[in-house]
Amino acid sequence: MLIAPSILAADFSRLGDEIRKVEDAGADWIHCDIMDGHFVDNISFGPAIVGFVRKQTKLPVDVHLMIEHADHYLPRFVDAGANSITVHVEPEAKHDVGKTLQQIRDSKCRVGLTLNPETDFKLVEPFLDKIDMLLVMTVHPGFGGQKFRADQMEKVKRAKSLFEKTCPERSRRVDIEVDGGINSETARVSIQNGANVLVAGTSIFKEKDYAQAIRDLRGN
Ligand code: DX5
Ligand code: ZN
Repeated sequence: MLIAPSILAADFSRLGDEIRKVEDAGADWIHCDIMDGHFVDNISFGPAIVGFVRKQTKLPVDVHLMIEHADHYLPRFVDAGANSITVHVEPEAKHDVGKTLQQIRDSKCRVGLTLNPETDFKLVEPFLDKIDMLLVMTVHPGFGGQKFRADQMEKVKRAKSLFEKTCPERSRRVDIEVDGGINSETARVSIQNGANVLVAGTSIFKEKDYAQAIRDLRGN
């Protein structure tokens, strides 16, 4: 089980310290939320900050693109040092999903695909054999600190069984990530349903003791 702190909840006035602190506290990846104010109703940060994150840590940098035209911008995140790049499947993301996934594959980054709570699982099914990670959003994207949507666990279960059924060999390598409202309680629910990567912002960066917060998410 992997823990990916979302730096959206970090104190940006001392971002370098925050990243080193979560790395020392036992994080596995660093999750970067890229928002363009169009695909989602919020604006966060871009490739320059991802490049800064890259320099602060040895951990894999997990880039979540909540933007329109990800195909146009993703080379800049590859150059910034991303290890995995996740794009949205919704038509509102305005890109050719199949082509963009191949573009990420060709860049040697791990290939991630994600769907919003309102999006039918059917939309991702044609691409499941082309990805290294499925991100099931457990909140509508755009903001941290929202309430976890337990109804999305159906999608986690479905993904787990499809990965196991369609290519058992692959299922050992494919990650199921959840993002939004993850805390020690909803982490348990997510893992029980088949998730193995937990993104968490508020439940880590709003705590005094990051190591304890991460242990709580792991259930230790
Ligand atoms: C929301 C982002 C999440 C968010 C998680 O659109 O994709 O990564 O920052 O924050 P919490 O854990 O506070 O819900
Ligand atoms: Zn995210």
